[in-house]
Amino acid sequence: MLSLAVKERIQIVEVAPRDGLQADPADLSVDQKVELIERLAAAGHTRIEAASFVSPKAVPKMADGDAVMAAVPRSGEVSYSALALNQRGVERAVEAGVDEVCGVVVATETFSQANQRASVAESVQRWRIISETAKAAGIKTAVTVSAVCGCPYEGRVAVDKVLDIVGELAETQPDELVLADTIGVGVPTQVATLFEGAGERAPGIALRGHFHNTRNTALANIAAAMDNGVRVFDSSLGGVGGCPFAPKATGNVATEDVVYLVHEMGYDTGLDLGALIDTTAWLETQLGHGVPSLVAKAGGFPDPG
Ligand code: COA
Ligand code: ZN
Repeated sequence: MLSLAVKERIQIVEVAPRDGLQADPADLSVDQKVELIERLAAAGHTRIEAASFVSPKAVPKMADGDAVMAAVPRSGEVSYSALALNQRGVERAVEAGVDEVCGVVVATETFSQANQRASVAESVQRWRIISETAKAAGIKTAVTVSAVCGCPYEGRVAVDKVLDIVGELAETQPDELVLADTIGVGVPTQVATLFEGAGERAPGIALRGHFHNTRNTALANIAAAMDNGVRVFDSSLGGVGGCPFAPKATGNVATEDVVYLVHEMGYDTGLDLGALIDTTAWLETQLGHGVPSLVAKAGGFPDPG
């Protein structure tokens, strides 16, 4: 007899084209970035962070965001998001036709100044303007609280500090609120506390997790966030990535590693693990170096993918 059970969905936002490439030593052309996005879509991705509309002096690798967005396939199956940190950025994002605008508020003052030359309060204010502009243009909004598990400059970050920011950002009613362990220092107990608290401070708003695997804790943190009801995660093909303003920050958790984990746990992602692994092999040839993903090396199991 056929089982009618429908698997619960974990949604992955693929961030390799933005968070992944912004700090990679390789300089990919617009054509290479667009080919990466096409391959990601072919592997089943429906949400792709494609570009950053920030200062090209601050992040030179993302200077071509307008050209990338102009060339990506627009079949309607993929929702494209882009980062904007000020009014000019959101205007460029609207002009480029993105489906979703993402903002960032860093949880600590020193990192906030290093990343976006603004205090935490100024960043919240900038986000309010970005959010209003995006909503007026009919575009979805997501805002990330960054460095929630620790700061490269100030060390440990108090949970209350993060949750106060979450509460303020919740007032803008984003479609999603993202908690990011930007430098990969978090552990599952801490992640559970943060997401539990965020759920209380942002009732009715979908929460998303963003983890870097700098200290090999990202998958454990994802499992902890899932235990707290989180069903949407950022990840990066091959585990490429970093932050140009966070010393020693290494890659995002690898998409293949997350997909293997959650598929084996009985969830569906809509993604084809074999196609992702093939795309990682292609990406390595484009970048000219290897990537951290483990499942891309080992393959799936029992089907190698
Ligand atoms: N798009 C393009 N150029 C922009 C821009 C945008 N959205 N915002 C600012 N600029 C340019 C300005 O034209 C100006 O250029 P000029 O020096 O040639 O005159 C320069 O950037 C500085 O502009 P200013 O408005 O004074 O911004 P700032 O110095 O206060 O910096 C940010 C604010 C947010 C623009 C900048 O810190 C930034 O882009 N940071 C990137 C952070 C990032 O992407 N981090 C990684 C992901 S979280
Ligand atoms: Zn990140």
